[in-house]
Amino acid sequence: MVQPRILILGAPGAGKGTQSANIVDEFGVDHITTGDALRANKEMDLSDMDTEYDTPGEYMDQGELVPDKVVNAIVDEALSQADGFVLDGYPRNLDQAEELEEMTDLDVVLYLDVDEEELVHRLTGRRLDPETGDIYHVEYNPPEDPEVEARLEQREDDTEETVRERLRVYEENTEPVVEYYEEKGTLERIDGNQAPDAVWESLKGTIEDAA
Ligand code: AP5
Repeated sequence: MVQPRILILGAPGAGKGTQSANIVDEFGVDHITTGDALRANKEMDLSDMDTEYDTPGEYMDQGELVPDKVVNAIVDEALSQADGFVLDGYPRNLDQAEELEEMTDLDVVLYLDVDEEELVHRLTGRRLDPETGDIYHVEYNPPEDPEVEARLEQREDDTEETVRERLRVYEENTEPVVEYYEEKGTLERIDGNQAPDAVWESLKGTIEDAA
């Protein structure tokens, strides 16, 4: 089977990273995530690009979007090296959505729909394993191994203040992207308020039907 080209949309905390890991395991595609790519390049020197701040990290720590020209280049490069993929964290505004049209076709556009207060609860309780990259939650999904629990870290932008700002930025910039795909008739809306396994069952079936 040709590997599917999947776009996963959703607010911060909707479960894009959690479900992308399932998609990678099941369908063998690449996970292209602008958030992880930018976190790995937080200190990248942008000073000759005429941007407001000199590094991606300064935008991210405030919950603001990193400039399009930086992010577009990262995605273009990653897509050129992937057959199938799940794209997570991009596009985040309409200009990025138009750029993406120039870069690739998509087989399925998934949207994880989650209530706002649940998003805040998920993000402030999220913890990451720095050794494996696995995603946990202090209440919903704590690790069983005490050694793993002891090394978990919180992302710098998961404080309640920055989370609220990220949700505001999402509403202003990225909700129009959801409407854009809805109007094109390609958006598959999934109830992301369900437990992770139930979300995965819905997603998996939707991808299998579309691919
Ligand atoms: P990014 O890293 O993309 O963050 P985000 O979009 O805010 O999304 P998250 O990774 O926070 O959430 P998620 O949906 O993956 O949730 P997760 O699965 O972890 O971006 C960070 C920053 O980078 C941006 O603010 C911006 O500055 C910059 N950036 C990135 N892309 C950019 C772009 N294109 N343009 C410009 N700037 C860009 O789940 C969250 C928690 O909930 C976990 O603890 C998990 O265990 C739990 N959980 C998951 N699913 C469930 C469930 N069903 N039930 C209960 N708990 C659940």
